[in-house]
Amino acid sequence: MGKLLRYTSKRSVIIYYTFALIGLVGILSWYQHNSQLLSDDIDLHSTYDIYDEYYKLPSLVQDATASHSDEEPEVGQFKNTEIYSLLLDSYNLTKECDKHSSIYEEIFSNHGVSTVLGQLDFAKRCDLFFTNVFLKNHNWRFNTSQSYDITYDGPYEKFCQQNSKKLKTEFIKERARFNKFSDFTRKTYAENRQREIEQTVVDELTIFRLYNKCFVTDDDPIQQSKIKNFITQQKQMVDKIGSSNPSKKFEFTKYEDLFQKGKEKSNRNNFDHRIYPWLSLETPIFERWTGKVYNDIPNYREILNDPSQPGKRKSSFFSKPTNTNFFKQYKNDCNGRGIVLTVADKHVDYTVNLIHLLRALNNKLPIQIVYFYNFSQESKKAILRAARDDYSHLPDSFKNVDSYFPSDYLENNHKTRGLPKQEVWFVNAANVLNERDKQKFNGFANKLLATLFNSFNEFMLIDADTVMMKNPETFFEMKGYKETGTLFFKDRFVLQKRDLEEGKLFNRVSQSTVDKLMFDVEPMTNHTLQREFFRGLVHTMESGMVLLNREKHFSSILMITHLNFIKPIRKKSYGDKELFWLGFAFNGDENYHFNSYSAASVGELTLPSDWQKPDGTPHYSQELCSSHPAQISEEDGHSLLWINSGFGYCPQAKSIDFNKESKIGRRLTFLPQTMEAFKQYYFDPLRIRHAIIPPVDDKLNKRYNYNDEPTEGWLMDRDYCKRYLWCAYSSIGGKLEGGDKDNKLEGKIITFSDKERQLFDYYGDIWMGME
Ligand SMILES: *[C@@H]1O[C@H](CO)[C@@H](O)[C@H](O)[C@H]1NC(C)=O
Ligand SMILES: *[C@@H]1O[C@H](CO)[C@@H](O)[C@H](O)[C@H]1NC(C)=O
Ligand SMILES: *[C@@H]1O[C@H](CO)[C@@H](O)[C@H](O)[C@H]1NC(C)=O
Ligand SMILES: *[C@@H]1O[C@H](CO)[C@@H](O)[C@H](O)[C@H]1NC(C)=O
Repeated sequence: MGKLLRYTSKRSVIIYYTFALIGLVGILSWYQHNSQLLSDDIDLHSTYDIYDEYYKLPSLVQDATASHSDEEPEVGQFKNTEIYSLLLDSYNLTKECDKHSSIYEEIFSNHGVSTVLGQLDFAKRCDLFFTNVFLKNHNWRFNTSQSYDITYDGPYEKFCQQNSKKLKTEFIKERARFNKFSDFTRKTYAENRQREIEQTVVDELTIFRLYNKCFVTDDDPIQQSKIKNFITQQKQMVDKIGSSNPSKKFEFTKYEDLFQKGKEKSNRNNFDHRIYPWLSLETPIFERWTGKVYNDIPNYREILNDPSQPGKRKSSFFSKPTNTNFFKQYKNDCNGRGIVLTVADKHVDYTVNLIHLLRALNNKLPIQIVYFYNFSQESKKAILRAARDDYSHLPDSFKNVDSYFPSDYLENNHKTRGLPKQEVWFVNAANVLNERDKQKFNGFANKLLATLFNSFNEFMLIDADTVMMKNPETFFEMKGYKETGTLFFKDRFVLQKRDLEEGKLFNRVSQSTVDKLMFDVEPMTNHTLQREFFRGLVHTMESGMVLLNREKHFSSILMITHLNFIKPIRKKSYGDKELFWLGFAFNGDENYHFNSYSAASVGELTLPSDWQKPDGTPHYSQELCSSHPAQISEEDGHSLLWINSGFGYCPQAKSIDFNKESKIGRRLTFLPQTMEAFKQYYFDPLRIRHAIIPPVDDKLNKRYNYNDEPTEGWLMDRDYCKRYLWCAYSSIGGKLEGGDKDNKLEGKIITFSDKERQLFDYYGDIWMGME
C-alpha cells in the first residue's frame, strides 16, 4: 500500500497544505463538539464533503471494490514479516484462523512492525490504534442496529450484477455441484457476506476490548505493571532480533499527527458516546428501604456503619468528572459486597419468597433489586414488608433445626424478635439506557445490565427464583471465587448438540495474535476452547447464580453486556446463559472459574417399582426426576449449594391439568392417584433427599447397550409437570453385544444426611410461606 497522497508539483503541495489546514480545524472542531455531546445524529458529512476523497485511505478504496474471493486484497501482510513470526515463536503463539481488526491494516501499512513494537509504550499504542479508528471513519460509532444477517435483497442483486461475468465462468467449473445458476450465486454471495460479517464482528470486538483496556482500566495497578513488563521485554526481543538492522524512528503520519494535535488540545481520551452509544452515561438512582434516595453510588461502609464492608476504593474527589470516562469513574466508585437481582412486577411473588429465605439463611449482605421499567409501588411495598416486617412466627419445621443456628439467630439489634431484617435497595436503572436500545435488553438480558448497574464491587447476581441453601457469604468464601474473583455454575449436561462450526466461528472472531503483540490481550486457550460449548453442547452454563468481583474483572463484565449486541454471538447463547463466560473469553480474560460439577437433579429417587426394565427387573442405574437443576459444591462433593426454579415440586403447578397427570399412573405411584393428591404434591415444597449428577460421555455420544440401561444422562418426561420434569440417571451404558465388553459410565449419587434434609424442609417451608 502506498502513501496516503502523492503530489508532484508545487501547486499540489499548496493545495495539500490548504486541505491539511482545513482538516486540522475540522478535526479539532469535530473533536470538541463530539466529546461534549451525547446525542446522536450529528451530521458531520457536510464539513467533510469537499475534501472527502483526500481522506479516503487506500484500503478503504480497495474495500469498496473488493468483491470476490480470488481477488481479495492481501490482508495481514504485516504478519508475513520475519519479525512477526519470530515474535510469535517467542510467545509460543499460534492461531489457525487469525482474523484481526482492519485497523491494524491501516497501522501497519504506514508503520513497520518492529518500529511500533520496539518503540511505543502502551499509551502510544492506544493513541495509534484509536487515531486510526477515527481516520478510517471520522464518524465511527458502534452501531447497535448493525445487521449480521445474510439476506438476498438489494446488496445481493448488486453483487450479482457487479460480478456477473466472473460468476458465470465459475459456475461452469462448478456445474456438477449446483442445479441452478442462482444456487451458485447465492452460495457464493453467502460465503462473501459471512466473511464480511465475521470481519465486522472482529472489528467491533477489538475496538470495544481495546477502548476499555486503554482508557477505562488503564489506571488499574495490576494491568499497569503487567503491561509494563510485557512492553519492556518485547522491546528487548525486538532489539535483539533487529540488532543488525535497526528500525526507523517512529513517527506519526501526517494525518495521524493532525488527529493527535487535535486530541492534545482537547486533552481527553473519552469516546464513551461512540463506544457506548446505547448508554445515557448517567448513573441509576439508588433507593434504600428507608425511602432515602441517592443519586450517587451509595457508600456502604458509611451508610451501614459496617467496617467489614470495604469502602470506596478511591475517593471520587480527586477525579475530574469532565475529563474521565464514565465507567472509569463508575468502577472506582463501586464498593462493598452484596446480592443483586433484577425484577419486573411479575417476579414479585418469587422475590418475596426469596427474601424470606434470605432471612432464614441469616443473610447480612445488602440486596440491590434492579429494575429497568416501571416497578409498581405495590411491588416495592410487598418486597419491603418481606424484608422489614417482624418475622418471628416460624414454620413447625423450625423445631427440628433450631439447634443448628447461632444463638442470636432470632434476635437482632432492633427491639423486636425474629429473623434478621434485610438491607434492601431498589435500583432504578430506567435512565441508564437510551430508549431506542432498551428493547435489546428485554427479558434475560436485563440481568446483563444489572451486572453493570449495581453498585457493589463484589456481587452475587441471582434470579428471583434461585433458591440458596447456604448463607450467601459461603459462596464468596469458596476457593474458586477467592482465587479468580468469579464463580460460575454449569447447566444440566443434556445431550443436546450444537454444530461444532459455532465454536470454530467463535474462535475465528476471537482476539488475534496481533492483539497479543500490540496490547498484551491474551488469546483464547484450552481453558476456554476445551469447554463443553466448543465440544458441541448447547447448554453449558446455568446463570441462575453468578459471582463476580468487579475490581478484578471490570472490563470483562463490560464485554458480557457488549456481546448482547453482537447477534452472531448472542443468538448462540440462548438468553444470557452463556454470555458470562463468553464475555470473559472474548476479553482475553480466562481467569474465570466454574464449579466443577455439572448440574444435578435433586429431590427423591424414583421408586424401584416405578423404574423397571421391560422384563420387570430393576435397573442398575438409579433415576431421579425433578424440575429443579441443583448445584453441588466442588469443595466436598456433597453439599447442596442452590437450586433453580423456586422451591415448589412443580414450578408450573398453576397451569397443570391435574386430572390428566394424575391418571397417567407411571410416576408418583406412592401418591393416591387423585387430582387432589397430585395438586397438593405439586404445590408443596420439593422434598430433597438425594441428588444425582449424571455422567457424560467424553465425546458426547450415547452409550447404547444390551442391558436396557439408560444411554444418556438426562431425559425429559414430557407427560409430567408440563415438560418441566427432567430425569437424571446415576449411570449410563451397560453390556455390549457379545456380553464381554461393557460401556457403563458412572455418575454421582448424593444422599443427604438427616440434618441436611431437615434444613431443606425448613427452608422449603419458609420459601413457600408455610406455617
Ligand atoms: C514457550 O515454550 C517453551 C517450551 O515449551 C518454554 O520454555 C517458554 O517459556 C515458553 N515461552 C513463553 C513466553 O511462554
Ligand atoms: C446501522 O446498521 C443498520 C443495519 O445494517 C443500517 O441500516 C444503519 O444505517 C447503520 N447505522 C449507521 C449509523 O451506520
Ligand atoms: C409504565 O407506567 C406508565 C404509567 O403508569 C404506563 O403507561 C406504561 O405502560 C408502563 N410501562 C410498562 C412497561 O409497564
Ligand atoms: C489443547 O487441546 C488440544 C486438544 O485436546 C491439544 O491437542 C493441544 O495440545 C492442547 N494445547 C495445549 C497448549 O495444551
